[in-house]
Amino acid sequence: MRDVRHHPPCAGCADADSRRGFLKQAAALLSGALVVAAGSPIAASGGELTFPIPAADGATVDRDNGVILVRYQGRVFAFNLSCPHENAAVRWKPAVNRFECSRHDSRYEPNGTYTSGRATRNMDRFAVRRAGDTVVVDVARLIQSDTNRAEWEAAAVLL
Ligand code: FES
Repeated sequence: MRDVRHHPPCAGCADADSRRGFLKQAAALLSGALVVAAGSPIAASGGELTFPIPAADGATVDRDNGVILVRYQGRVFAFNLSCPHENAAVRWKPAVNRFECSRHDSRYEPNGTYTSGRATRNMDRFAVRRAGDTVVVDVARLIQSDTNRAEWEAAAVLL
């Protein structure tokens, strides 16, 4: 087995990492699982964040603003990164194709629908609208499914 403790980074390693990343993404796409990447808005103004419309199904996690942008089955959603139970960070679990909360194991479908755990509602969604090839997220308008079901259902950009 190769000793990697003193192995300096090299162009070959970067290529291998990028190949591994590509293969992982390709495998995830073929399996129907979401691909998750870190991301940030391309613009921010007046409580609104603007993101490019994701090119394929996947999740973009913007930790700085506490937003998870998801493209899934022809819709784009913006979720609060915080679990609706007690605000722990929600994480995407590609092996099981769902969001999970690390604190009390609440589980959610890719569209934010609650399936099990201590939470009592779906993942909270931000109001969103389409502007050309972008999605504008109103981070001042957080919508909870238990108090405003109709608006929660409508909080999506249709592609
Ligand atoms: S904080 Fe997420 S289930 Fe409790």
